[in-house]
Amino acid sequence: MAVFRVPKIQSSDNNFYLWPSEVCIMTKLKIKSEALQPKFDELERKNQESLLGGGEQRIEQQHKRGKLTARERIHLLLDEGSFEELGKFVMHRAKDFGLDKEHYLGDGVITGYGTIRGRLVYVFSQDFTVFGGSLSETHAEKIVKIMELAMKNGAPVIGLNDSGGARIQEGVVSLGGYADIFYRNVMASGVVPQISAIMGPCAGGAVYSPAITDFIFMVENTSFMFVTGPNVVKTVTHENVTAEELGGASAHSTKSGVTHFACANEAECITQIKQLFSYIPQNCEDSVPNLPYTPGNENRPALNEIIPANPNQPYDMREVITGVVDENTFFEVHKNFAENIVVGFARIAGRSIGIVGNQPAALAGVLDIDASVKGARFVRFCDCFNIPLLVFEDVPGFLPGTDQEWNAIITNGAKLLYAFSEATVPRVTVITRKAYGGAYDVMNSKHIGADLNYAWPTAEIAVMGAKGAAEIIFKKEISEATDKEAKLNEKVEEYTKKFANPYRAAHRGYVDEVIYPDQTREKLIRAFAMLENKAAKLPKKKHGNIPL
Ligand code: HXC
Repeated sequence: MAVFRVPKIQSSDNNFYLWPSEVCIMTKLKIKSEALQPKFDELERKNQESLLGGGEQRIEQQHKRGKLTARERIHLLLDEGSFEELGKFVMHRAKDFGLDKEHYLGDGVITGYGTIRGRLVYVFSQDFTVFGGSLSETHAEKIVKIMELAMKNGAPVIGLNDSGGARIQEGVVSLGGYADIFYRNVMASGVVPQISAIMGPCAGGAVYSPAITDFIFMVENTSFMFVTGPNVVKTVTHENVTAEELGGASAHSTKSGVTHFACANEAECITQIKQLFSYIPQNCEDSVPNLPYTPGNENRPALNEIIPANPNQPYDMREVITGVVDENTFFEVHKNFAENIVVGFARIAGRSIGIVGNQPAALAGVLDIDASVKGARFVRFCDCFNIPLLVFEDVPGFLPGTDQEWNAIITNGAKLLYAFSEATVPRVTVITRKAYGGAYDVMNSKHIGADLNYAWPTAEIAVMGAKGAAEIIFKKEISEATDKEAKLNEKVEEYTKKFANPYRAAHRGYVDEVIYPDQTREKLIRAFAMLENKAAKLPKKKHGNIPL
């Protein structure tokens, strides 16, 4: 068996490169039969050829752009020596525009399977050095093959995208190839986790494959995604915009929310993919990763002191989250988009959980369109893959205004309500402060199927804030008073005493227990252990009709 030496070389910009000459050093296999030796030599030659993709010059160009090659990316992603390549010698069948004279083994995409920390994963990695990583009929067939294997064998698919789009010389055959992939993306959705990393161009219809997958990673300055590029934009809307401004990692991680992660470079991107992978199960029938956990002397912030005395003062919900989950396990998703809601994975006593928290430090934690969609998508991912949900609630309501109403806060807010209501995984809520109005119902309330709801003594569970409520229900009394301000204050206090606390809800059983903030971690460890075997089913149906 030929042995490939693949040493890691760290370049000055801290990326790891495997230079082509080193990739191709092989120990020559000598066999006893001289007659058969040429057959073994031929295989060796083909292996070497396929490792070189589009050739040394193009590999060098790729490196000069600050990008790794498709093989280097796989090498960084998978456990050392675990990669098994499939379809290494596939070639395109096209004949037009000189393609009959230009062939590269593998046809611009490297596909196969391997392991990440011992767990099976299927991978495709587009090779920009071969026809710009463009997607031909055969390139698409290779991707479809590993997607189908992944579905049959119940393991995640990771796609490393770096492609100029449809292989222009092939025409409609290439479009068909895309559609074959999109269809598999949809069929695999909710069956196995699908992760996309964009590590170069991803334009036109090609964007719709990553868009259907569960998580997208992008690399700053070297990747972009758009349906139509800067030239078309200029012609149609007369806007002058660069590819990076239009569809770079920064635009998609902050403005559109298309990407969940924006990474400084490819090495960081791959590290983050592996980290995400550590929280998610293999498929929809697997249970969540459960790491051995020994309670230690964790250094935790004192949560009893975290809520400011003034209910309108912000605090960072991330501090609450890190104060409750296992040390250094909070892995935030969609960090820079819709910052008024925080979502991410963590571990509690070793088990993976998904966390959704209102963020009082951004827009007072209000729910708006982006926050609702961000939260809903995350909740649905967790529910697909049996990841229990923990909700931290401090929400003053939905964001008012024409912008929100005209862009359909009604429909979009309903997505979050729908996602929580439909989730059958263990669901626990902790109300830290405000739980006002419709947002109280939406944020995993008992009424929509949460299993356990806790409240801190600082919780205010009411139809609305005390001032707004007093102004409405005591309008007449306040307007007739000689000292209107004193009257308003008196009524605000009256309302606060009656409603702005957790006890009305606790009397009704809407809250299972009012707990001291410092007890939260222990309560949650027990709660999730108690809920571990939860079995809940939705009514029989073809599928629901989430308000899209
Ligand atoms: C065939 C392609 C190609 C393509 C690039 N190449 N895109 N070959 N089909 N789609 C080849 C180039 O000819 C070149 O070959 C090599 O890849 C590198 O390309 P460069 O242009 O030199 O690289 P760069 O300057 O980095 O620009 C990259 C690029 C640009 C931005 C991706 O190549 C580009 O704009 N390509 C076309 C993009 C496009 O319009 N694609 C079709 C979109 S429509 P050599 O031999 O010189 O190395 C689409 C529909 C999908 O995708 C619909 C699905 C529903």
